[in-house]
This record gives sequence, C-alpha cells and structure tokens, in this order.
Amino acid sequence: MTSIQHDQETGTLRFPEGFVWGAATAAYQIEGAVAEDGRTPSIWDTFSHTPGKVLDGDTGDVAVDHYHRFRSDVALMAELGLTAYRFSIAWPRITPHVTADAIGPVNEAGLAFYSALVDELLAAGISPTATLYHWDLPQALEDAGGWTNRATADRFGEYAGIVAAALGDRVGVFTTLNEPFCSAYLGYACGVHAPGRTDDAAALAAVHHLNLAHGRAVAAVRAAAPAARVSLTLNLGWINPATDSAPDVDAARRIDGLQNRVFLDPVLNGRYPEDVLADTSAVTDWSFVRPGDLEVISAPIDVLGLNYYSPTHVRHWTRERPRESPTGLDDGSPRPWIAADDVEFPTQHGPRTEMGWTIDPRGLTELLLRLAAEHPGLDLMVTENGAAFADVPEPDGSVHDPERVAYLRDHLAAVHEAISRGAPVTGYYVWSLLDNFEWAYGYSKRFGIVAVDYATQQRTPKDSAHFYAATVRANAVEPAPG
Ligand code: FCB
Repeated sequence: MTSIQHDQETGTLRFPEGFVWGAATAAYQIEGAVAEDGRTPSIWDTFSHTPGKVLDGDTGDVAVDHYHRFRSDVALMAELGLTAYRFSIAWPRITPHVTADAIGPVNEAGLAFYSALVDELLAAGISPTATLYHWDLPQALEDAGGWTNRATADRFGEYAGIVAAALGDRVGVFTTLNEPFCSAYLGYACGVHAPGRTDDAAALAAVHHLNLAHGRAVAAVRAAAPAARVSLTLNLGWINPATDSAPDVDAARRIDGLQNRVFLDPVLNGRYPEDVLADTSAVTDWSFVRPGDLEVISAPIDVLGLNYYSPTHVRHWTRERPRESPTGLDDGSPRPWIAADDVEFPTQHGPRTEMGWTIDPRGLTELLLRLAAEHPGLDLMVTENGAAFADVPEPDGSVHDPERVAYLRDHLAAVHEAISRGAPVTGYYVWSLLDNFEWAYGYSKRFGIVAVDYATQQRTPKDSAHFYAATVRANAVEPAPG
C-alpha cells in the first residue's frame, strides 16, 4: 500500500501515516503579560506603543492572555485532536538583561513558563515545536543596533543554547528564526514592523546577521540538545513574471533573489547569490560578511519550514505610469524591495483574503516541489498557512467561516499534490490556533480557527476548527460537500 492516496471515487485525499497536524502561534501575538515574571520590553512593545505604528493603537500588552490561559488553550488543542503545536519563545522572558556585550543572567521564571507549557502539551499527546525567534528582539539589543549589529547574532546563539538546554529533553523540533525576510526588510527597510527603521543598507546587514544568528543557533541547539531536530522557517515567494519578456523575467529574478535565495543559498549552499550581491552593490559592499560566516550559516539542518499565504506577481516597471502594488497603486512609501525600483507588483483580480492577499494554492505546491528538487534529502514542513476573513460571530460566539474552510481545504489539497509528486512534506501547521495580534494590523485581522472575544477572552472554535479537527481525525481531507 502506498502511504499517500487519492480516492478517485470519493475524492478523499489521504495523507501519509504519521503526518503531523498542528497549529501555530507566536509569543507576542498571544501571550500578553508583557511585564510579568521578569520579562523586559522587546522591540514590539516599543513599536506598538509608538503612536501611529499599529492600527487603532493596539498593543500586545494583553493579547489573548495565553500566558495565564495556556492550560485551557492546550486543552482546546487536545479537543481539536492536534498532534503538534508550534509556538515561539519570547527572548526577553529568558534573558531579560541581555546587552550587546553579554547575555546576562537567565530568568528562571521565563524558562519555567515554557517548561510548563511543554509538559502540558506532552501530557495531552501534542508534540511541541518551538520557534526561538518570532520577532520580539529585546529592546536593549535594538538600542545597540539590533540586527545591524553582529553581536546580536552572537547573543542569539547563547540564548538558543540556554533554551535548548532547558527544553531539549522534551521539544522535538527547534526552529531558529521565523521569516527573517520580515525581520530584515519590514523591520529595517520599509519600517512597517518593529523596529520601524527605513535604511536599505541596514536591512541588508540585518539579512546577514539573521542568517548568522540562525547558524549560531543551529550549533548551540546541536550542542545542548543532540536529539532535537533543527529547522528554519522561511516565507518563500512563488514568483510569477507577468510575461516571458526579458525585463519581466529579470524582475522575477530580482525578487526571487531578495526574498528566497538570499536566505536559501547561504543556509543550504554556503554562499550568497552573486546576482543579489551585484544588484545591491550600490547599497552595500557586503563587508559585514566575514571569513568563516558562511560555514557557520550552512551547518546542516534537519527540516525546512515554509510559510505560504499568497502568490507573487511581478512586472518590469517602465515608469510611464504610477507603479502598482499587489492591492492597488503604490503610495510611494518605503518598500522592502531593495535595489528593485523598476519592479512593480501588478494588481491581481480574483478572490482575496481580508488582508488583500490573492488566493492561489498552486504556489504552495510549486514551492514545495521547488524545494524538493533543489534540495533533495531535506525534509519539509508547512509551518504556517491560513487566512484572515471578516468573521461575523453568531450571538453565541460561534463563527461560520466557509471562506476559511475553503481556503484550508484547497491549500491542504495543494500540499497533498506536492507530496504525491514526491515532496517530502512531514507536517502542516495552520495559522493560527487563535485570533490574535496581527502585528501592524493589531486586532483588526482574524486568522484563528478559534474565535476570541477580546472583551471576555472567551474562545469558540469556528467552523474551520471543526473542519480541521475532522481532517486531523481522518488523516485525510474530504471533498467539499455538494
Ligand atoms: C506571517 C507571520 C505570522 C502571522 C502571519 C499572518 O508572516 O509569521 O506571525 O502574522 O504572517
């Protein structure tokens, strides 16, 4: 019997035995309790408290109070039948007095929180996957240059070793970084994320120091927790040129370089892409890359995490008319696309999520197949996929969210397709378990399969949670009724 099947008669898509079914969250988006048990501020505390940075002035001060409710949240996961949970660890809870020069004392209360969470998960039969960095850099490190400062990568390695030593006997997978693309470009080039800087050269230094931080963390986790698997999560783009004209194809190459290859190549091939170095040579000479760095960065990993939401369409911009962005006209504010001024992102027609993101599950299949072809032998997992829609709760708090159900069904079918064509995908984590603080959009965008009433912190599974639970139970996606 093959491990993956497509029942032609019923349309059921059966997943391989042992496939991991999870949900994902991130510390700052759900925990709250930002000043409790010794935690010090991160760049997201500072940013969200800076007027004008986050929609409606929302902050993660309380978020969905997961810090106090983690036991009932784990019970909820168990009810849904999840086999894994991907959460992130807030660095400022673990070493709250870190400086650029020294990691500082370990905060045992911070470690104790995650240790209790891990124990609760294991008792419920749920495998913990811990992300070491999901964007909440200690503010003291940002004050010393943040990711533009090489010392941040060194301190990150030390922090990773501390966490791995404390949790590595129980956590099966450690993910070093979540989406370094966002940390570097959204944080330092266009400034829509913390720390809100707009300096292209700084952003490219951040790219390298994040890659270096990943490498340092791989070494530290291997040393402290030899049995754990180590991974990195990237938000790779499925990049489509508008035509096959040379300028459009070159636009696609540039964006592929900045979004995909500047992270994939150093980690998996031990080098930076020559074309990216050439494209950006007027911005920086890349002298922050020091001898030996690429050996550190390219230490083998066990599994690569892919976050996928939406496709990317690109076109050469001729400057004859205003430049387009994915959701309309470019408003002229700083862009994350360094040295790619002549690239535009043509507006797409067709279905979109509440974020304005085009829906096209083919990108998930294509990216998984690309990774499988380019990096044979590397296990893959989908560490985030999901959608925000304008949910309207019923009086009892329940939410009928047929669009989210359809989004999940179609994207799971895309994962199944990739597996059936040979991609070694070991698991899928829906984003997100709970409605939460969606970064610069605050609480205005809801990605949860479980609704949260922010006034009462009441959790209510949406229809999509019931759909997902049925999928997990069957280890298979059933076709849409009708
Ligand atoms: C990803 C982030 C995650 C969440 C989703 C919608 O880029 O990793 O925290 O915000 O987008």
